[in-house]
Order: sequence, then C-alpha cells, then structure tokens
Amino acid sequence: MTEQSVAQASGTFTLGGDLTVNRLGFGAMRLTGKGVWGPPTDRDECVRVLRRAVELGVNFIDTADSYGPYISEDIIREALYPYDGLVIATKAGLLRTGPDVWIDLGNPSYLRQEVEMSLRRLAVETIDLFQLHRIDKNFPLADQVGELVKLKDEGKIRQIGLSEVNVDQLKAAQQITQIVSVQNMYNLSARGAEPLLDEATKQGVGFIPWFPLAAGPLAAADGPLQRIAADHHATPSQLALAWLLKRSPVMLPIPGTSKVAHLEENVAAAEITLTDDEFETLAAAGAQ
Ligand SMILES: NC(=O)c1ccc[n+]([C@@H]2O[C@H](COP(=O)([O-])OP(=O)(O)OC[C@H]3O[C@@H](n4cnc5c(N)ncnc54)[C@H](OP(=O)(O)O)[C@@H]3O)[C@@H](O)[C@H]2O)c1
Repeated sequence: MTEQSVAQASGTFTLGGDLTVNRLGFGAMRLTGKGVWGPPTDRDECVRVLRRAVELGVNFIDTADSYGPYISEDIIREALYPYDGLVIATKAGLLRTGPDVWIDLGNPSYLRQEVEMSLRRLAVETIDLFQLHRIDKNFPLADQVGELVKLKDEGKIRQIGLSEVNVDQLKAAQQITQIVSVQNMYNLSARGAEPLLDEATKQGVGFIPWFPLAAGPLAAADGPLQRIAADHHATPSQLALAWLLKRSPVMLPIPGTSKVAHLEENVAAAEITLTDDEFETLAAAGAQ
C-alpha cells in the first residue's frame, strides 16, 4: 500500500454530487494556541502536520475563520497552497473575543465579510465548502443562509454546509438551498446527534463529526476499546475513528492534532475494518 492510499482506505464520499473526498479528513482547529486562541506552540510542526496529512492521502481539511482567529487558515495557506486536489472547508458565524470564548454572530453582513476575508487568507477565488458555524437566533435563518446563497451565486462559495443543527433546522435550510453537509459533535460516547446523522444518511448529506476522538473512559486499560484494539494491533483512538467510519457511509471524521505522530496514528485508522460484532460491542460500551 502506498502512502497516498492510507486515507483512501476510508473510502470516498461526494459532497453535493460535486466534491469527492476521502472520508477520513483532518480538522485544523488544533493548529492554534491554548483556548483555540493565538499561534500554536510549534508552528513549524503544524505546517508539517498538514503536509504529512496530504502525503497520507487526506484531501478534506476543515477549518474556520474563528480558529485562532485566522491563524488556522493562515497556516493552511502556508503549508498547502495551491491546494492541488484538496477540498478546503471553512466556516464563519462565531465571534471570538478571547481564549475559549465563542459568540454566535450571524449578521449577514458579517458573514459576507468573513467569506471575503477567508478568500483572501486562503488565496482562492472560491471556497469549496462554506459552513455556517452556528445559526444565530438573533437573525432569521433565511437571511443567514440567504447571504451564503448570494455568495454562492457570485461564485465565492461552491457548496454550503451547516454546523450544530438539528433535523428541523437542516430541513428549514434545505427549503432555501442545497445543503451538502452538516457538522455536529458526535463520537462513540457522545451521540446526541443520532437523529441528524440518520437523516443525513437517508438523504446522502455529508455528516462531519467533530470531537471524534473523545473516547474518554472507554480507553481505560481493561475496557472494550483496549481488547479490540489489541486484536487489531491498534490504539483506542484508531478504534474510535474506525467505529465512526463504519457507522455511516456519509460519515467524514476530521480528527485534529498539532503533532505529526498523532496524525499518522489517526490516519492509519482508515485501514481498520471492524467486524459487525466489534462495532456493536463498541456501540454498546459507548452508550453507557
Ligand atoms: N463545528 C464545530 O462547532 C466544531 C467544534 C469543534 C471542533 N470542530 C472541528 O472538528 C475538528 C476535530 O475536533 P477536536 O479537535 O475538538 O477533537 P478531536 O479531533 O476529537 O481531538 C483533538 C485532540 O485530541 C488530541 N489528539 C489527537 N490525536 C491524538 C492521538 N492519536 N493520541 C492522543 N491525543 C490525540 C489532540 O492533541 P494534540 O494536538 O496534542 O495531538 C487534540 O487535543 C476540529 O479540528 C475542527 O476542525 C468543529
């Protein structure tokens, strides 16, 4: 197996019938300082992480204006421009005023500004996938999504996605335009987004689970992850990712790290195929 084919082993998914990616991607939120604020401790290592991800076949990278803010997008440009064959997904809709502070802001003018600024930072004419980071209850959904539709019509956005939504919100947005992906917190032990995942699976909408590695106590030395991990010569993190990949064909995990060693470990999860029994054992353990 070539290095490029490691991430390919996760299979492919086509967003909106348009953008085909290997299902195991990379989340670039961790290429920043503590509290997702300011520069990372080791910027050079973050550049190496991104380049290594691409070497290993990762071609779907998730970021946002608010990561840093702006720093994650800057590092992506430094490491990967001109993004040959890559799909870079970004987002806006969260204001940052300090470490770990995230404030919804869906003012359509602000969304437009942030799309313009992401185009400039990433040095592209069109953003492949632009996700509304949060629906802001202070503005009509039609105005927030509507502004993204205008930007799509202007050629500045290619496809539109949503983040942290429920099924009703997805359907309401779909009354306005095509939604190719949703991104919600989801992992073995945090499965509140099951109804949304089931709807996304039914419709063929991409489901991007954030915080995919939060295996938590499941990774304990005598836990089910450890036992199945030993059978696969794998780590608990890899099992958590392999479980996600098996859960649905629309699942696009984006594990994040600032370290090449962790990246290599995570991408290798694409090569693990769980049996149905292993999948069920992990699902049951994660539900406890
Ligand atoms: N839409 C949203 O609202 C939203 C919210 C949060 C995140 N996201 C997206 O989802 C992506 C993933 O979420 P996330 O970063 O919160 O969670 P995650 O990928 O589950 O976990 C990342 C954390 O785990 C550590 N880690 C990664 N691989 C590891 C390994 N093999 N062994 C040990 N530790 C490891 C990382 O630290 P090291 O750097 O030390 O490896 C980092 O602290 C983000 O990058 C972002 O793109 C979206």
